[in-house]
Amino acid sequence: MLRLVYSSVQTRTLEAAAFEELCRKASLKNRGMQVSGMLLCNGKEYLQCLEGPTDKVSTIYAAIVEDPRHTDIRLVFHQAVDTRLFEGWHMAGLWKPEQLLQSGVRLPYSMLDPYFQRPWHVLGSAAADLLFECASIKANLERGGQQDLLKSIVLTNTT
Ligand SMILES: Cc1cc2nc3c(=O)[nH]c(=O)nc-3n(C[C@H](O)[C@H](O)[C@H](O)COP(=O)(O)O)c2cc1C
Repeated sequence: MLRLVYSSVQTRTLEAAAFEELCRKASLKNRGMQVSGMLLCNGKEYLQCLEGPTDKVSTIYAAIVEDPRHTDIRLVFHQAVDTRLFEGWHMAGLWKPEQLLQSGVRLPYSMLDPYFQRPWHVLGSAAADLLFECASIKANLERGGQQDLLKSIVLTNTT
């Protein structure tokens, strides 16, 4: 399997509903291709993790980089992996930081942490860590049976 993480800059601002729709469509397509992942949006940029069969992830990524809704796409992580971080999430969307604040969940990279609002490309390869932190929160909450809390931090999740 392949896991990749890329960052990009929005060419136009999306409202929450449009972001949700983007994730919903992505989820449907990804599910059919056994691809899972997560998409973060800070209101200016995207940070996305895609994981699954190498050929499928590559096909999806090739379509994504051509999408006019974003630009300045930078691959920050690309590695062969054996296990998934986002099992069951075909494209979970995490919207702006307010969503995290409202949820009451303390993320290691919260809105209060300057990292979260800093442009992803300034973070460089550490940007991928942000997504991996989300994966570890997902795993911890799932282990603790806190599915409702999980739902409150993720805007969209088509399983
Ligand atoms: C930030 C961003 C993330 C996206 N993520 C995915 C994704 O995970 N899976 C996917 O199939 N399409 C994703 N898309 C949409 C693709 O770029 C493209 O529109 C879609 O694959 C076209 O599918 P279609 O040819 O079946 O209509 C994303 C688009 C953007 C802007």
